[in-house]
Amino acid sequence: MLTLKGRTVVRTVEEKPGATLLEQALAAGVDWLFNCSRGTCARCRCLIQEGADLLEEPTDAEWDRLGPDELDQGYRLGCQAVVRRPGDISAVNRTYF
Ligand code: FES
Repeated sequence: MLTLKGRTVVRTVEEKPGATLLEQALAAGVDWLFNCSRGTCARCRCLIQEGADLLEEPTDAEWDRLGPDELDQGYRLGCQAVVRRPGDISAVNRTYF
């Protein structure tokens, strides 16, 4: 299952391989902040609390925007992080501002 924590709404849904965390958050009605959807604004930044290994590798945009330190700490961009395979994943939207 996929648990998505937005600003005030938390939902647990069936995870969809091939879809981004942001797409799944919006489809589930979670108030997940975002702006560009292209990996540049970082408004959709999130901390992966469980299941990081079930996501595709970080995209070039994530390397550029977050860098190795934040990626190491478990941060991803919701609009870039794609579910790779089924399992338990938990992510909380943690924007900078
Ligand atoms: S929405 Fe801008 S980086 Fe994801």
